[in-house]
Amino acid sequence: MTGSFPDARLRRLRQSPAVRNLARETDLLPRQLVQPLFVREGITEPTPIGSMPGVLQHSLDSLRRASVDAAAAGVGGIMLFGVPAVRDPLGSGADDPQGILNLATAAVASEVGTALVVQTDLCLDEFTDHGHCGVLGAPDASGTPTVDNDATLERYVAMALAQAEAGSQLLGLSGMMDGQVAAVRHALDAAGHTQTLLLAYAAKYASAFYGPFREAVDSQLSGDRRTYQLDPANRREGVREALFDEAEGADIVMVKPAMSFLDVLREVRDAVSIPVWAYQVSGEYAMIEAAAANGWIDRRGAVLESLLSIRRAGADAVLTYWATEAAGLLRDR
Ligand code: PBG
Repeated sequence: MTGSFPDARLRRLRQSPAVRNLARETDLLPRQLVQPLFVREGITEPTPIGSMPGVLQHSLDSLRRASVDAAAAGVGGIMLFGVPAVRDPLGSGADDPQGILNLATAAVASEVGTALVVQTDLCLDEFTDHGHCGVLGAPDASGTPTVDNDATLERYVAMALAQAEAGSQLLGLSGMMDGQVAAVRHALDAAGHTQTLLLAYAAKYASAFYGPFREAVDSQLSGDRRTYQLDPANRREGVREALFDEAEGADIVMVKPAMSFLDVLREVRDAVSIPVWAYQVSGEYAMIEAAAANGWIDRRGAVLESLLSIRRAGADAVLTYWATEAAGLLRDR
């Protein structure tokens, strides 16, 4: 202090919109957003998802329209999830070329595949009758079914080939099986799909914030995913997963959920040299929508601040259920 005046006036950089524009450290752009979309087999009209107001289970037709809207809004990609009419222990619908996800991928890829990156979730949980992300093996000592890692890898390889054949440009490996990136990369390369991108959900935590998603895909799961998804207590283990996935050949790694794992996101960003994405999951969406519906929070402000914060923490791109809408808000601003 000199006399009674501050030596440093940090507010100088905040004095006007023009100065604040020059001083802004982080940007949020439509191309950095990816829109997840659900497509359900056997429906002709889209169906609302109660726990995710504003999000729909699409029919093939409404999915095509939503994909065109996303492309027109300038978002970077769409991530497709399938909701099959019939499920079985092996998740046979996942690698069936006539399965809902593969049919939808083919339809959408021919429509918007040059305007944005068409992406597919590569996991068995939507397709199995037990709801786990893989094939079940022998029960453990307590009688709980376990997921057989290596048998599941064979299913992921079959699924990867079917998705690439259908026209998916980027496969989102979200099952958290060991060795999944290497197994899928080798199989794709051997089949000539050398340009298919792999997004590894490296640090995917066993999170309570996936709750609304389970309704979105009519999940059959009883029990939990704690023998394959990460313990929310573990930061170092998330970084370790990301380093393994990078070494196995992942093109991009993901941290998920986003808002309750921003520390992991920052650390992963610093640890790897490939792009890092984050998934703002269904529970994060539902929380803000519910608070806004009650008039407890400014919806537009909270949506954009949440996305900006995920970018600031280190995400190069963000999967968010608001992608298309947020792209519009960013353009109008
Ligand atoms: C697995 C998958 C899940 C989500 C995305 N991919 C469910 C899970 O692991 O339990 C959750 C996404 C969300 O909550 O928005 N196919």
